[in-house]
Amino acid sequence: MQAIQVTHYNRQHWVALNDVPEPTVGPTDVLIEVQAAGVNLTDVRFATGVMAPILPTKPPFTLGSEVAGTVLKVGAAVTTFSVGQAVYARLPHTQMGAFAERVAVAANCLAPIPAGLTFEQAAAVPSAALAAYQALTEELSLKAGDQLFLPRGAGGFGLFVIPFAHKLGIRVTTSASPRHTAVLTALGAERVLDYHTTDFATELHDFDAVIDTQGRDAIPNELKILRHHGTLVSLAALPDWKFARQQGYSFPRQLIFGAAGLGFTLQARHQHKQYRFMLVHADGPQLCHISDWLADLHLTPTVAATYSLEQTQAALDQVATRQTAGEVVITR
Ligand SMILES: NC(=O)c1ccc[n+]([C@@H]2O[C@H](COP(=O)([O-])OP(=O)(O)OC[C@H]3O[C@@H](n4cnc5c(N)ncnc54)[C@H](OP(=O)(O)O)[C@@H]3O)[C@@H](O)[C@H]2O)c1
Repeated sequence: MQAIQVTHYNRQHWVALNDVPEPTVGPTDVLIEVQAAGVNLTDVRFATGVMAPILPTKPPFTLGSEVAGTVLKVGAAVTTFSVGQAVYARLPHTQMGAFAERVAVAANCLAPIPAGLTFEQAAAVPSAALAAYQALTEELSLKAGDQLFLPRGAGGFGLFVIPFAHKLGIRVTTSASPRHTAVLTALGAERVLDYHTTDFATELHDFDAVIDTQGRDAIPNELKILRHHGTLVSLAALPDWKFARQQGYSFPRQLIFGAAGLGFTLQARHQHKQYRFMLVHADGPQLCHISDWLADLHLTPTVAATYSLEQTQAALDQVATRQTAGEVVITR
């Protein structure tokens, strides 16, 4: 079958369309005919090699961490899914490979596609929605009325965090270009700052939490707007020691990651605040729960652009610009 592979790490995130062997389907796996696959900045980072210290990969490997498709075959021990069913999933790191004609995924990572969603829309959900859900329910312990700042509200991730936080009664301030203000307000943002004209660091203060999607350069200002004992969870800056311990890394690797994020950990502690790093993880039951939330909220995922498997390079190039409102998806 055909698959998009990283054959060598390179700064330009070049990938190749290769013929590869069919996936191996273990007893607890499900083989999926890929109908659509979401493209994320993480895929770009896997191609450049910057993810390798966090989640080890060795070229050549097939890219793609979220999928929507049809069940072709189930492993001997799988009782929860059946052939022909429409499913979607965030893939575990060890089973990456959604940019292909078929992929094998552990059954406990899958959920049925919510009624009314196309394969393309479903493929835009798992990574961003699970990351949003996990940031709000596992990393932060906010209560109704608490204030959250989320930069880049119009990105694929922000479009899930805002409605999910709003559902939990959390007050969200975000930043975006003015053309997105109406959409973000309708999703539940209390305030949308125009990042072209307004500096959030001077405008905001005493926030209970920040979810960082900007990266390391933004961390000092994001810490600054927190109240005492407020928490900054980063999805885009440097891993810290706590993250390394949760991932079950060896003690030497914990020390390396602890050292990487130490500057931010100490900076936060000095201000009586907390810095954390998180990585989204695959979870079928959580994805089922998210399906219910999408239905409750009448939320339709925003597919900004679609590409064929052969055009994956262009899809990665678009995501790498970090100027896309919504998700980029590869379709059959
Ligand atoms: N660690 C994890 O497990 C995990 C999981 C999911 C996502 N992430 C990370 O989260 C980040 C968010 O990714 P994403 O897919 O949501 O989209 P993104 O590509 O970061 O954001 C695109 C959007 O942000 C707007 N934008 C650009 N510069 C901005 C600025 N300075 N301030 C405010 N908005 C700005 C863009 O322009 P306009 O407003 O002009 O349209 C566009 O709408 C990425 O770093 C991704 O890797 C990490």
